[in-house]
Amino acid sequence: MYRGYKMTFRTIIEPFKIHSVAPLRMTTQPEREEHIKQAGYNLFSLRSDDVLIDLLTDSGTGAMSRNQWAAIQHGDESYAGSPSWEIFKDAVQNLFPFKHIIPTHQGRAAEKILFTAICGAGKVIANNTHFDTTRANIEYTGAEAIDLVIPEGRDPASRHPFKGNMDLAALEALINERGVENIPAVMITITNNSGGGQPVSLENIRGVSAICKKYNLPFFLDACRFAENAWFIREREAGQGDRTVVDIIREVASLADGMTMSAKKDPLGNIGGWLAMNDDDLAVTCRNLLILTEGFPTYGGLAGRDLEALAVGLTEVVSHDYLKYRIESTAYLGKALVTAGIPVVQPIGGHAVYIDARALLPHIHPLQYPGQSLAVELYKVGGVRGCEIGTVMFGRKPDGSEEPATMDLVRLAIPRRTYTQSHIDYVIEVCLAVAQTAPQLHGYRITKEAAALRHFTSVFSPI
Ligand code: F0G
Repeated sequence: MYRGYKMTFRTIIEPFKIHSVAPLRMTTQPEREEHIKQAGYNLFSLRSDDVLIDLLTDSGTGAMSRNQWAAIQHGDESYAGSPSWEIFKDAVQNLFPFKHIIPTHQGRAAEKILFTAICGAGKVIANNTHFDTTRANIEYTGAEAIDLVIPEGRDPASRHPFKGNMDLAALEALINERGVENIPAVMITITNNSGGGQPVSLENIRGVSAICKKYNLPFFLDACRFAENAWFIREREAGQGDRTVVDIIREVASLADGMTMSAKKDPLGNIGGWLAMNDDDLAVTCRNLLILTEGFPTYGGLAGRDLEALAVGLTEVVSHDYLKYRIESTAYLGKALVTAGIPVVQPIGGHAVYIDARALLPHIHPLQYPGQSLAVELYKVGGVRGCEIGTVMFGRKPDGSEEPATMDLVRLAIPRRTYTQSHIDYVIEVCLAVAQTAPQLHGYRITKEAAALRHFTSVFSPI
């Protein structure tokens, strides 16, 4: 398109140039078949050297910027009261002005501390969709984790622009049914990772906040992908298109009473997290637990240098150029799969593309894990490592029974600022090749599993 002297172009380029590189090791299909067999057909048990394109997770796997690496040199490792802590706290509060910021080594440590403080037998936490560690940390205390995403959020083909939204009527019904005294907090996960990386609208977050205020319930954000969620709000929600992402993030924070955070996602770190809240008494309890398991309250489980890198990451992730590239490059992969007729969760999420393995492999019963079957095949054929998000991850119930999960997905999570478009073009080719052989793929059975979070360590055998 020609606009006066200004040309605009369609190609979304990576808004960075490569500063330092790491090698990728090529392997052959027979080698990979042996590696995955040795790994008990569990992608988590592979050596990452044996993986070509690693889309297992977007957590802590991104590239840091030169300014982040420079900030690492500025890290001060004082045990208490380090200036690196002040820099980190200011950067967090600039976006999330909660009164108390409690650093942790990663997101699940923040969850463990929060739920230890507020949960226990008989309690219920509502969320749009709990992430696996969130659910597990709640259930570990004896409490119940209930998912209340809108019905469209459970339908991989629905095109609702905010499929991560909470079902507000269901939330209010749950509060009335269980009683406010049994609900220590309500949570919203932005973006809704287990439901396809789908965003939550500002209107919905306002709605959850209003219900929580009405019943005097604490409202917590699981905010790992807050910047991606804010970008979707800016792009898709009426009346939000002229706001800055920072402005939207601050409004989202103002609607909540606290947050848990994995800084391995949008804060662009390789490690880190935090817990935040306004409640003074809860903060005292949580800091005491922090000292027990993570460290002193001015570093949590982190080194001063990590705190500094995260502070810089928080300024970089809100860049509109970065977020435009991030969301559009993820959609580039998703759209290519859709065009080839591969069923994926739509619209395409922020940090990942989720292939609907149950739809692609209808001949494999959910209790024979179609997602696992597809993920193993992507590795065998192309060295691409994705992650099953389905019955392997969610099928085992606290009472020991097993049920099919709501969906059987394979997530191809895109590490931030790490792979180029040619890597993604290769991934597309591998997916197309595997989809062509879909009718020949077979299911798996689990021969060994852990009591909780079984997907990390299970051993499988082909059926
Ligand atoms: N909440 C959400 C929504 C997450 O996606 C994660 C991690 C956590 C909490 C826990 O954070 O890993 O720092 O302890 N998700 C990663 C993933 C592991 O692959 O989606 P953590």
